[in-house]
Amino acid sequence: MTGKISHARIFSLLAAAAFVPVAALAQSAAQPWMDASLSPDARADLVQAQMTEDEELMLVDGYFAVYPTGRLLKPAPEEVRKDLPGSAGYVRGVPRLGIPALRESDASLGVANGRHMRPGDTATALPSTLLTAATFNAELAYADGAMIGKEAHEKGFNVLLAGGIDLARDPRNGRVFEYVGEDPLLAGVIAGEAIRGTQDQHIISTIKHYAVNDQETGRHALSANIADAAARESDLLAFEIAIEHGDPGAVMCAYNRVNGVYSCENDYLLNKVLKGDWSYKGFVLSDWGAVHSTVDSAVNGLDQESANEFDKQDFFGDALKQALADGKVPQARLHDMAHRILRSMFKSGLFEHPVEHTAINEKGDAAVAQRDAEEGIVLLKNKRNLLPLSARTHRIALIGGHADLGVLSGGGSSQVVPIGNKPEHEFLLGGSVLDVPGYGPQMPADRMILDPPAPLTTVRAAARGARVVYDDGSDLAKAVKLARASDVAVVFVEQWMREGADVPDLSLHGGQDALIEAVAAANPHTIVVLETGGPVLMPWLDKVGAVLEAWYPGGRGAEALARILVGAVNPSGRLPITFPQSESQLPRPVIPGIDIHEPPIQWLGTQIPFDVNYTEGTNAGYKWFAVQKLMPLFPFGYGLSYTSFRYGGLRATGGATLTVSFNVRNTGKREGKATAQVYAAPPTADGHGVARLVGWSKVDLKPGEMRHVTLSADPRLLATFDTTAHVWQVAAGDYAVTLGGSSADASATANVHIDASTIKP
Ligand code: BGC
Repeated sequence: MTGKISHARIFSLLAAAAFVPVAALAQSAAQPWMDASLSPDARADLVQAQMTEDEELMLVDGYFAVYPTGRLLKPAPEEVRKDLPGSAGYVRGVPRLGIPALRESDASLGVANGRHMRPGDTATALPSTLLTAATFNAELAYADGAMIGKEAHEKGFNVLLAGGIDLARDPRNGRVFEYVGEDPLLAGVIAGEAIRGTQDQHIISTIKHYAVNDQETGRHALSANIADAAARESDLLAFEIAIEHGDPGAVMCAYNRVNGVYSCENDYLLNKVLKGDWSYKGFVLSDWGAVHSTVDSAVNGLDQESANEFDKQDFFGDALKQALADGKVPQARLHDMAHRILRSMFKSGLFEHPVEHTAINEKGDAAVAQRDAEEGIVLLKNKRNLLPLSARTHRIALIGGHADLGVLSGGGSSQVVPIGNKPEHEFLLGGSVLDVPGYGPQMPADRMILDPPAPLTTVRAAARGARVVYDDGSDLAKAVKLARASDVAVVFVEQWMREGADVPDLSLHGGQDALIEAVAAANPHTIVVLETGGPVLMPWLDKVGAVLEAWYPGGRGAEALARILVGAVNPSGRLPITFPQSESQLPRPVIPGIDIHEPPIQWLGTQIPFDVNYTEGTNAGYKWFAVQKLMPLFPFGYGLSYTSFRYGGLRATGGATLTVSFNVRNTGKREGKATAQVYAAPPTADGHGVARLVGWSKVDLKPGEMRHVTLSADPRLLATFDTTAHVWQVAAGDYAVTLGGSSADASATANVHIDASTIKP
């Protein structure tokens, strides 16, 4: 014993005292970017200082994460193939520096596994995103995002291709179920909160598809034409709000052109608006097959090419290396691309929280899906309080819509293979009673999937004591006979939507309207349950007793429906999208390009370019109906309850900002959730402009209970965007404020003076 303590010993004692493992300290000395106390930018700088050009290039060039791919014949490099997770995308990491690979999964409605890319892997199926928007409940959106993020992490993914937004400029859009409705505030808040929930689970989430990606027909070929100011006040505003709420690590640029320029090489959208005005610090990745150039894409703001096999060439592979060597793309630009990617990886904690391969918490996650479904199903009609079913209902007929198997889900890249999935839940080409031309699955690999359990099972369990009988509805005479012999008849109808094609019209197909008419004629106590992607026409509406819009209600949808039918749950969903009376009320009665682009589904390949002119501009959805003075079938924000509410005591204060306070009272006999909505219309020379949703509050009220609510409006919702001065302008004058239970309900009104102001974008 010399009594001397070596340096190494001091080091380890100090480390122990600070509870830092020696190995970690040694590592952070060698790899200082592993120090999580540093900012994501500082960490990215530190690791980039060690990276070669080839390593930075690896980060910007993505692969399709399924092999062999069948139609995409170019095999990925061996190192990529060994590690493929079986999903949508994969970007190589740099093991020598501890940079993990990006393992990407689609995730709008749960961890997707469409076309069984990971054979046998199932996940919790959430309701459609449009249903989540119908909850008007940001907390549920956050919980959904967190649930998907957690499952994704447990299944080995660290990037989710989630966060879909479009303003439903065409309700026939085959992906409308993946989006969050027609209002920029509602869409922005719901999408942003879901993204925030996902990223809190150490996952990068995208927001997509940027921008003005409002129809599937000819999606690779169309140019979405819209005035700059109108875009800022509508589609772009929804993205802006969502990015503020969720701060997604990545933005996915869209297939379509915007004002003539492809979204993924659009300097205005990517450099000027997103990275400039909004100071966005994350990275832009392309949609699958949305890149058309090397130099233009790189210079105009694309940071990462996804699944390069989908593009005509690997634009961000050797071609980008060459463009750098030729000086056509500045070296600093590659550095910026890699920096943005690494920054998002550090920010979401991808280095500290490597992906796992563990079992998911099926029970807990199912509860999230059920809460969502229970709050997003919308009661559209309830004549003489037919619902909830009374205890005296002894004979219940369930008719049609595969109610003996499950509830419908939407098709495409977001498709989840639900827990409990069996072969009989899947309908392939030609395998469905709904398989009429242009409607059912069109491609051999296209699957229509029903989420179990079956409503037949859940209604039987919920309506104890009643005899519940199912008929598939294919033989009208049989269905009518059953309806006649029953106390109530519940007719389940389906509208299947999927990515890659729009529905040609808003009608229910496969004779379903006739089925409802026939059943309603036989039994006035007919309840229609709509399992639809978005709005449908209801020529039979006057003849039925009740209508529930169940959307695609997900893996716990059948439970939620049963609980609503028997009254264990009081419905509280509100429409996030206007239901028109007919397609002639839409800004474009016929889907642009449908004559040249449908069928078949156009995934890749060349198409004839065409224009979609969004001349309604800012006024998407309910605003279009207001401007045109059209009466919809059901307005935006609408939905009934088993109780009733009164909205009153409205006080609006103006000046620099608009603040409103009001009371909501439950005037009925049951507990229920009201969604109080506040709209404001700006002054114009001859009165007021179009009212816009400026806030809402969802409140749970006991019978007789009253709640006082105060809301402040985001000034951008009162403003117009001035493209010359490049600012939001709030005009001085009297604004008309309305309070009610939907966009068409003016239970209380007020006029309030707002001062002029400008807001920097
Ligand atoms: C879709 C994206 C999706 C991607 C990867 C594309 O076809 O438009 O939403 O994330 O495929 O599956």
